[in-house]
Amino acid sequence: MRRLVEGMPKVELHMHLEGSLEPELLFALARRNDIDIGFASEDSLRAAYDFANLQSFLDIYYAGLRVLLHERDFHDMAWSYLRRVREDNVLHAEVFLAPQAHLRRGISVRTMFDGVRGAMERARGELGMTTGLILVFQRQFSEEEAFESLRASEPFADRVVGFGLGGAEVGNRPGKFARVFAECRAQGFRIVAHAGEEGGADYVRETVEVLGVDRIDHGVRCEEDPALVRELAESRIPLTVCPLSNLKLKVVRRLEDHAMARLLRAGLAVTMNSDDPSYFGGYMNDNYLATQAALGLTREEIREIARNGVAAAFVDARRRAELSRMLEDYWAKAG
Ligand code: HPA
Ligand code: ZN
Repeated sequence: MRRLVEGMPKVELHMHLEGSLEPELLFALARRNDIDIGFASEDSLRAAYDFANLQSFLDIYYAGLRVLLHERDFHDMAWSYLRRVREDNVLHAEVFLAPQAHLRRGISVRTMFDGVRGAMERARGELGMTTGLILVFQRQFSEEEAFESLRASEPFADRVVGFGLGGAEVGNRPGKFARVFAECRAQGFRIVAHAGEEGGADYVRETVEVLGVDRIDHGVRCEEDPALVRELAESRIPLTVCPLSNLKLKVVRRLEDHAMARLLRAGLAVTMNSDDPSYFGGYMNDNYLATQAALGLTREEIREIARNGVAAAFVDARRRAELSRMLEDYWAKAG
């Protein structure tokens, strides 16, 4: 099973570039930019990755972003991630970036976008990977500020496939961002939002009904509302599930309790993703392997999860057909 999972062509649809900064790179950027990050070593920073909940993670995660100042810092962050997941046989990755987290520190959209874009183009040329960029609004801030982030990004709109919603979920309901997502949709962008990670099933329902999302990020707590589970099975709105993230942020106590297999078996379009791989203990293959072992996913279920990823990607018909063919060829050879 390990060899089968590792070699399988994959699509990743839910990962925060800022959450891919490994302690080694974080320290290297801190040195390069002469910033004191308040930890003595890579190991002491890594030892602090012991989270009680989403907020305790976000605190340390936002603090780490201070090392990102220049275009090449954003490039190095994105390039490290892309090069790393290519080793996991990820052939298409849709990556999240939170402009507000950087605009608030005085970094221009051009600086972040040029850096990330450079890495994405390099991935196409050197790794044969395709990529998409999704800009994530931070829900703990106002909708007005989300609009400002949208306006600041508009000159670079040709580089963006969609908009998303992240940050502190509980107390910041999806409906708070109804107008800004309506505007994104009117401009032709795809829409995703984190929901049902720490928020309950009502947050998932509101995300679908009020925001009209194309995919739900996490969504695992939809399980608390059986009618919603049936509706999601019917609509096949994809869920970008991140099992190791849910374990690390204590959304589930044990991976064995995770909803992924139950939701898959209920007919939902469940996909596998890493969220913040540096902080949550694993990239794509780690997520597949740990979840397979904990939930007893069958070969056919692994294949179905990977197929769901290809079907849920924001790519054109030609690229989808290509990805699909590579996946099916792989399984045909695997026998
Ligand atoms: N949830 C919400 N916001 C985030 C996350 C997450 O798991 N990771 C980075 N920003
Ligand atoms: Zn996330």
